Amino acid sequence: MKRRNFIKTGAVTGGGILLGQLPTKNIFSKTFANISYPIVVSTWEPNLNSNAKAMEVLLEGKNSLDAIEQGIRVTESNPDDTSVGYGGFPDADGIVTLDASIMDWKGNAGSVAFLQNIMHPISVARLVMEKTKHVMLAGQGAKKFALENGFKEENLLTKKAEAAWIEWKKKNKKPNNHDTIGMMAIDKNNNISGGVSTSGMAFKLHGRVGDSPIIGAALYVDNAVGGAVSTGNGEYVMRTLGSFLIVEKMREGMSPQKACELAVERVYRSNKNLDDVNVCYVALSKSGEVGAYSLKKDFTYCVTTPQSNKSYKSDFLMK
Ligand code: GLY
Repeated sequence: MKRRNFIKTGAVTGGGILLGQLPTKNIFSKTFANISYPIVVSTWEPNLNSNAKAMEVLLEGKNSLDAIEQGIRVTESNPDDTSVGYGGFPDADGIVTLDASIMDWKGNAGSVAFLQNIMHPISVARLVMEKTKHVMLAGQGAKKFALENGFKEENLLTKKAEAAWIEWKKKNKKPNNHDTIGMMAIDKNNNISGGVSTSGMAFKLHGRVGDSPIIGAALYVDNAVGGAVSTGNGEYVMRTLGSFLIVEKMREGMSPQKACELAVERVYRSNKNLDDVNVCYVALSKSGEVGAYSLKKDFTYCVTTPQSNKSYKSDFLMK
């Protein structure tokens, strides 16, 4: 399929999907085994546009790392997305703070935590990976590094996000919000990369860092096996290193679906009070199998091939 046709299909198909019509069971274990690459997988239905961008990059012949960066940048610059980048809900002090991480097929990793006033933390994370000897930069140091490398300082707090914060301070009531973008891609050379970007939990304590910049928590890829990404309440993912756990279980021969279920069950078994908590995983094997599972209902994820760009409802544990 030509690139232009693909994007058209992606926009129409993606935009036209109603979540109520989606299948509740994961259908990819069989469907996508032995697919021809490339493939892009991400968390949350609104990220279909980001998947479409990532696929466009892959169909231009670029690698999975370029696809992840360009795909996630779409969500980061979308002011209507209140959980990632520009437009993300601020912390309790009214300040937007961002976490992101990226990993390539060679086992390289980079991340940023508690980054402020920089629109594209995923690109800063990539630069940390490619230009420094480190894996993670945080706070003022991460911002200084970004500015020194040509990123602009910008106000990321939109009127909409500020109004939600003021409302929360008055009524202590949080708006419904989906969460972090986590994305994985396999390119034509059969190389996998992944990335995660978020503004974190809405109205969190100032200084709070979630799972997104922690390699092995929200993101892990291994080119011999596949990868996993998470979304939801990061504290529960960090305590169980869910993405690393999923990839290791896949390495032992478990399917992506079963490995996601095991990681969610581990959170369920080790925590008594899970009110207001959700943890969600998507996994992608190197053979193109996709798995997804969450603690609670309403988690959606996107799967994009050259032929289709669709979102699906994940199965969940606490029925
Ligand atoms: N999963 C995003 C966060 O907890 O910050």
